[in-house]
Amino acid sequence: MELTTITGLKGEVTVPGDKSISHRCIMFGAIAKGMTEIHHFLRGADCLATIDCFRRLGIQIEEKQDSILVYGNGLHGLSAPTDILHVGNSGTTTRLIAGILAGQKFDSKLSGDDSLNSRPMKRIIEPLTQMGAHISSILRNDCAPLYITKGNLHGIDYHSPVASAQVKSCLLLAGLYADGETSVTEPSLSRNHTELMLKEFGANIHTVHRLTGPEATATISPCSELYGQKITVPGDISSAAYFIAAGLIVPDSEILVKNIGINSTRAGLLKVCEDMGGDITLMNERTEGGEKIADILVRTSQLHGITIEGDIIPTLIDEIPIIAVMAACADGTTIIRNAEELKFKESDRIETITDNLRAMGCTVFPTEDGMFIKGGEPLHGATIHTLLDHRIAMAFSIAALVADGNTKILDSHCIDVSYPTFYDSFEQLL
Ligand code: S3P
Repeated sequence: MELTTITGLKGEVTVPGDKSISHRCIMFGAIAKGMTEIHHFLRGADCLATIDCFRRLGIQIEEKQDSILVYGNGLHGLSAPTDILHVGNSGTTTRLIAGILAGQKFDSKLSGDDSLNSRPMKRIIEPLTQMGAHISSILRNDCAPLYITKGNLHGIDYHSPVASAQVKSCLLLAGLYADGETSVTEPSLSRNHTELMLKEFGANIHTVHRLTGPEATATISPCSELYGQKITVPGDISSAAYFIAAGLIVPDSEILVKNIGINSTRAGLLKVCEDMGGDITLMNERTEGGEKIADILVRTSQLHGITIEGDIIPTLIDEIPIIAVMAACADGTTIIRNAEELKFKESDRIETITDNLRAMGCTVFPTEDGMFIKGGEPLHGATIHTLLDHRIAMAFSIAALVADGNTKILDSHCIDVSYPTFYDSFEQLL
């Protein structure tokens, strides 16, 4: 994809359904009794991988024009796959499904693409093993491919060293099959879609927040069944982020991004935009299916650098690539700290963000857990090496709009992972 400088982005845009929620609708629907009807589902490669895995586990899933129907078979209704389960590029599919598979009476194997098969899985292998699961890294490198065989699960009280919704969700799902309560305590609260949605499906699950600190503990008890639901997936704030940033940094712009999930465990970007001096307004706020939703209006603003650190990091971890682009356009320096998790995403994002910003002429320094970005210098068109990371492709597509000259985004097809129609959505704003 080649892009060049632009001004005056105007209009309304709706973005596809939330990726995290779309995955969970399929998974929870598959192990619930009865039908789950899903609207505004994200038909991106990651969520399609989740559908494919559950079909291989014997679940009938119908893809209609404007909905997905999952014919759940109950908590114990999955059947043994005849082949390896392909998880593609999707960390969420891998880590969450591993929790479900750990509780089954059959063997399964999971494998993904090169990026997925190099991401850390020890973070789920260790606690699942503590629960009595039999799960191993086939190449003994603590990564996928993973092999899971029948185990008898018991509840544990796990203190996770990382605030990771994938780890937490994996263990809570395994907890559905355990012989007692399972608790997961994280250093600060990560996205809580699993807790909210499992409750809607009928699970006995609750979260306790530490009064004196950011720690939170989610606890689930085994239950006899979950029950199918009708769900409308909110627009993905991680996808909306590109239009929010474009509206703020592209001169003479005004963009309304409609129907976006603003769950507080996901909405750190909104605070960052405000703190950077962005003109951003939430409109039409409401709650649907336990999730908060709003329309978001943004107008071109002169941004200034800030420090982003601490408990806000898990609430904006996927938005750091686009926040870094905003920082490059802001006056002064932006410092990002406590974000070492960036190293374990679809690419090592500390490296991919800083290398590509530098290629565009920005002064930027990677650190062990984040980066320093000196904003306000003009960006120049460059060749962007995405390393097949969808969020790098989209973030630097926005940077291209404010850079002089042409920018070439290599392997831009990787946007299919979370937002196949990203470039089409843009055309509506021209
Ligand atoms: C996700 C959790 C986050 C996030 C990922 C989706 C989820 O990962 O980065 O894109 O749906 O649970 P971690 O749990 O590894 O932080």
